[in-house]
Amino acid sequence: MQPVAISERVSWIGALDPTLRTFDIILKTANGTTYNAYLIRGSEGVAIVDTVKEGFSDHFFARLEALASYDEIKAIVLNHLEPDHSGALPELVRRAPQAKIYISVRAQPMLKALLKREGLTFQGVATGDTVSLGDRTLRFLTTPFLHWPDTQCTYLEEEATLFSGDVFGCHFCDNRLFNDAVGDFRFSFEYYFAHIMRPFKRHVLDALRLIEPLPLERIAPSHGPIHRTHPREYVQRYRDLSVSRLPNEVSDRARSLLIFYISAYGNTARMAEAVHAGASEVAGVRASLYDLEGGEVGPFVDLIEGVDGIAFGSPTINGDAVKPIWDLLSSLAVIEVRGKVGAAFGSYGWSGEAVRMIEERLKGLKMDVAVPGIRFKLIPTAEELEACRHFGRELALAVLGPDAEVAA
Ligand code: FEO
Repeated sequence: MQPVAISERVSWIGALDPTLRTFDIILKTANGTTYNAYLIRGSEGVAIVDTVKEGFSDHFFARLEALASYDEIKAIVLNHLEPDHSGALPELVRRAPQAKIYISVRAQPMLKALLKREGLTFQGVATGDTVSLGDRTLRFLTTPFLHWPDTQCTYLEEEATLFSGDVFGCHFCDNRLFNDAVGDFRFSFEYYFAHIMRPFKRHVLDALRLIEPLPLERIAPSHGPIHRTHPREYVQRYRDLSVSRLPNEVSDRARSLLIFYISAYGNTARMAEAVHAGASEVAGVRASLYDLEGGEVGPFVDLIEGVDGIAFGSPTINGDAVKPIWDLLSSLAVIEVRGKVGAAFGSYGWSGEAVRMIEERLKGLKMDVAVPGIRFKLIPTAEELEACRHFGRELALAVLGPDAEVAA
């Protein structure tokens, strides 16, 4: 349990967790993970950046004690308060009560809830704030929602080292620690982005605007390898992953509407075709029709990420929307759909709950259900199909938003 030197003044004092196979219930960790914590020694004191999961506290403290005494600790920086990084914090505070805790402004109420004690010495910091350790300076970057509201990065100016928290991290356990020494972790890096950062792409781009201008010798994330060679390539990869994944044939001014449906006896399919025809009448909106019976969910998720509106057509079977619709809807948690126009329609035989249930899910995803759903019993009549065309037109106009009047 020895610390690992990253530079003359910076050391890794984290913990290895090679047997972990599931993280936060949903994330698979085929290689286990690491909880990275760091010690920085300045001429006027020591700083600790992040801690470890509680069960690994002994590893953390053993490594820390090999390098410093507790009374030397001047600053404790928590880039993120999730328990895998704050687990050893209560004990660290008990051992180094003189140390001041630096956290993001948003983290302050969370810290109080976490430690549940009075007399804590902590300070909320924001982009540009600094802490001096004498000949070493920590500068903070506020990078919220990566992937919690509290997240921030910390930059060690004199060594051009970014302590990035979960950003640029991955669940990959290899005691060789450095990106040029460990095994091939590309899959883990991409998987981590896809499951942790992808829903927050907008915030990733905000963070990159702060990070990209910095001189960068190395990136020290809170999980997985430390990027000491070509760190900027990881930054560039985050940018690439955060912009649209598919080339878009729709012009800059045009909007895109996807209409998904599945049909048991062709009735919801007829409705979908009429909705599509109506939407296609609106200039400035490119409407596309997909039968979920002929597609897999994964590629549709990529497609949905880049569009402005989505409509779902489902029959009601056994009082519910059908499984392919739910499969697609449940997959949307990994992307940002907040604010996109969402709508539902469908044919039904008896009770017709599917439309309402889909709408509830869309609202739960914070989508804009601007046009109330429509449903018709069994085979839609000519009038009902005309209502579907009207519904499609209304939907396209909602997708167009403020540009609708211009297009009209
Ligand atoms: Fe690694 Fe979000 O905690």
